[in-house]
Parts: sequence; structure tokens; C-alpha cells
Amino acid sequence: MATEKLFLRGRSVGSAEPLLPRRDPKIVAARTIGATARAIERTRRRGAAEPEGPPTPAWRRLAEEAKACRRCPLHMSRTHVVFYRGGPAPSVVFVGEAPGREEDLSGRPFVGRAGKRLDEALGRLGLADGSYGIVNLVKCRPPENRFDRAAALACRSILDRQLELLAPERLVTLGAHALRLLDPDAPPIVQAAGTPRRLGARPLFPLLHPAAALHAPRYRARWEADVGRLAEWLRERPGETL
Ligand code: URA
Repeated sequence: MATEKLFLRGRSVGSAEPLLPRRDPKIVAARTIGATARAIERTRRRGAAEPEGPPTPAWRRLAEEAKACRRCPLHMSRTHVVFYRGGPAPSVVFVGEAPGREEDLSGRPFVGRAGKRLDEALGRLGLADGSYGIVNLVKCRPPENRFDRAAALACRSILDRQLELLAPERLVTLGAHALRLLDPDAPPIVQAAGTPRRLGARPLFPLLHPAAALHAPRYRARWEADVGRLAEWLRERPGETL
């Protein structure tokens, strides 16, 4: 190992081996570049994490398109685009309205208080993880959680392609807006909820929005009863349903 000259008050007083080995600047630079490249690669991989849902290029492209969407003013205030929660090949897809605060922060639908109510229902329905999916009409949080029909229309093509790629056997709409947008001929939600319908060839079950059951005591019993009917409907084979 090379020795280093020792100085005391500016005067040379001999030489000794350095306490720490000298670092070759070229090796230091190469290590720094290597560490930086690895960090960039880690970040790139995290950023390109597969979205929940089908592990297909078409689904990934659609999720990327939604993430970059600026078709309506809601993109300006969003934290995250709320795209999908659920399995890669769900047999039933729940369609909600629009993300709230918790969903905007997490990027996943129905993770706030209404989501807890929905999760309880999913537990009662005995739906295994992966056998259902959850989407919203609107992918970005509307200010003050007011439903924004123009945003729902702007998001419509993304929703249609989600349903096409997920290809569930059945749909469950949550609340008046989801039912009206998907099935404009349906009666008002209070009449329609709990009674199976068809959307073209696909069986559809309208439910009240879980937030209604949360905030309006008069809808609590109705929500529970309709979830019970939904459980029966899910037990029927698709060909046997309405
Ligand atoms: N309400 C909805 O309709 N969707 C959500 O994701 C959360 C609350």
C-alpha cells in the first residue's frame, strides 16, 4: 500500500500508510454511475408496475391512456386516476360512480367508507378475491364529490373498453348514475334496485349506491335485502338468469 506524507503545522514530519485505503477516483465514479443506473432501473420498474386486472398489453395500454387522460377538467385536480380494483378475469364487475377522497389518494376504487360497506357485501356474497372487479364511471375525483355527467361522458370510452377487456359474465351497477348511464331505459333506481335486468346479452343487477345505505337510514334495510337478492342471483348459472 502506498504511504502518505505527514505534515505538522505545514512541515513534513515523515510518512506513514494511510488509515483508510485510498479510493481510486475511477472506481468511485464507476460505482456511483452503477448505483445511479440501478436506482433509475428500480424507479422505472416501479413506474411501469402492472396495473391490477388482466396482464395483457391491451389492458396496460388502456390503463396508461387513462393515466394520461386530459379529456375533462378533472385531470387538473386529481392526485391519481382511479382505474380498477380486482382480479384479472372477474366473473362479475361492479360499476360505481366516481372516486372520493380516499380513492383519489390511493388510486383504487371503493377504499373509503362506502368501500367498507361494499366490502362487507362482497364478504356476504362469498365472492373470492379475483372473482370480481370494481370500476367507476368517472376515473378522477370530482370536486366536493358532486357527480359530473360531462366527466362520465368523457370517460365513457374508457369504461366501455374496460368492460370489453374484462368481459365479465355479469354486471352490478352501484347507484342511480351508473344504472342510468349504462341502461338509460331502466326505471328510477329506487324501483330498479334489487331486480335483475339485462344489458344486451349481459345480465345486470342494479344495487343502491353503498353510500346511500351509509348515509340514509331508510335505505339501510333495503341495501341489506338487495344484497341478499344479489347473492341468490349470483348463485344462478348465467344462462338461468333473467
Ligand atoms: N363512490 C364511488 O362511486 N366510487 C368510489 O370509488 C368511491 C365511492
